[in-house]
Amino acid sequence: MKILITGGAGFIGKWLIEKLPTDAEIVVLDSLDQQVHRGLQDFAPEIKERAKCIQVDVQNVETHKSAIEGTDIIIHLAAQTGTGQSMYEISKYVQHNVNGTAKLLELISCLEQKPRRIVLSSSRAVYGEGAYTDGKEIFYPKGRQVEDLQKGLWAVCNDQGEPLKFLPMHESHLTRPTSVYGLTKLWQEHLLQNYCESQNIDLVTLRFQNVYGPKQELGNPYTGIIGIFTNAIFQEKPLEIFEDGLVTRDFVFVGDVAEAVVKCALYERPINSIINIGTGLAMTLVEVVETIAEIVGKPAQYKISGRFRVGDIRHAVADMSHYEAILGDWSPTSLKDGLAQYLEWYLGQKPLSHETLQASFKEMERTGLLLSKQG
Ligand SMILES: NC(=O)c1ccc[n+]([C@@H]2O[C@H](COP(=O)([O-])OP(=O)(O)OC[C@H]3O[C@@H](n4cnc5c(N)ncnc54)[C@H](O)[C@@H]3O)[C@@H](O)[C@H]2O)c1
Repeated sequence: MKILITGGAGFIGKWLIEKLPTDAEIVVLDSLDQQVHRGLQDFAPEIKERAKCIQVDVQNVETHKSAIEGTDIIIHLAAQTGTGQSMYEISKYVQHNVNGTAKLLELISCLEQKPRRIVLSSSRAVYGEGAYTDGKEIFYPKGRQVEDLQKGLWAVCNDQGEPLKFLPMHESHLTRPTSVYGLTKLWQEHLLQNYCESQNIDLVTLRFQNVYGPKQELGNPYTGIIGIFTNAIFQEKPLEIFEDGLVTRDFVFVGDVAEAVVKCALYERPINSIINIGTGLAMTLVEVVETIAEIVGKPAQYKISGRFRVGDIRHAVADMSHYEAILGDWSPTSLKDGLAQYLEWYLGQKPLSHETLQASFKEMERTGLLLSKQG
């Protein structure tokens, strides 16, 4: 079996390579983007030992047709992944994520043998704010208004200003991205759905929640909030939590995500479905910070700042019932156990400097995308 992994040198890709069957032939295609892999000029030895590695931007993938010929399964991970950054580096996100996917499909259409399955790593960002209810009806709010956020009105409300109840994200819910990143992930989904239907290729679209764990690049200030929190706690630096600290996210351990991808990639019958990958448990950012501090054994000096990022959503948590209906039991790692593994790994790493993180915040302030509650 021949498996192509685009973006295979990244965080999730590294885990995936370890979990794929040892008799599978693996080809990794990755540009080694310098925002993710600071200073790295070549693939890590553990990836080179296991896979044939090609350093190329997926937008120029046509130059490597012969290496990709005969692929059974494609796992498409390559993407720019910073939600905040996508709001001002718009063309970069469209080029890498949308044009890159289009170029990959053009290459596949030139292959003598088409892959039998493509697995796409999509994101919960495609749901945007997601679905809410007042107990009677379901609403799909288009995103919170800046003027409300500036007044400190963080909750998602109905037209009468009454707070609505958030519903776990289900694959049947409407997609309504609030960020450019989310839009590009939705475009990837649509391009692949259209192409795979026309070619009778089995498509598995996995919508990941917030993935965390060992091997997540610490030098990239645009992604990985757990790394940012951990850095601050270890370095005993003040830590900022946006809004009122009660934003929720579903943090899913990377080992579980990689296992789910492998399961989908190797599944014997056609899947042809969109599937959420999360834990099904929502955690507030304050709870996450306190859990990290407890494991580290240092107090978290956090400030709930009332600042907010334009395009950020209030709540996210996966409904995992569709996964379980198709693929069976799902028992994700608890946040405490996942964080314990993460922190053990973290101790051997060079941390992100406080200044690098502050510089990324400055960029967002300069572009008017990091604002404060007024008054
Ligand atoms: N990590 C998360 O929390 C999360 C959540 C939802 C979805 N996802 C999706 O999962 C996938 C993998 O994410 P990750 O966390 O491993 O990110 P990552 O940044 O660690 O890995 C992405 C890899 O893609 C490569 N890459 C970027 N642009 C490329 C291009 N144009 N051509 C070739 N290679 C390119 C990078 O060099 C990197 O190695 C992405 O598609 C991302 O959108 C991740």
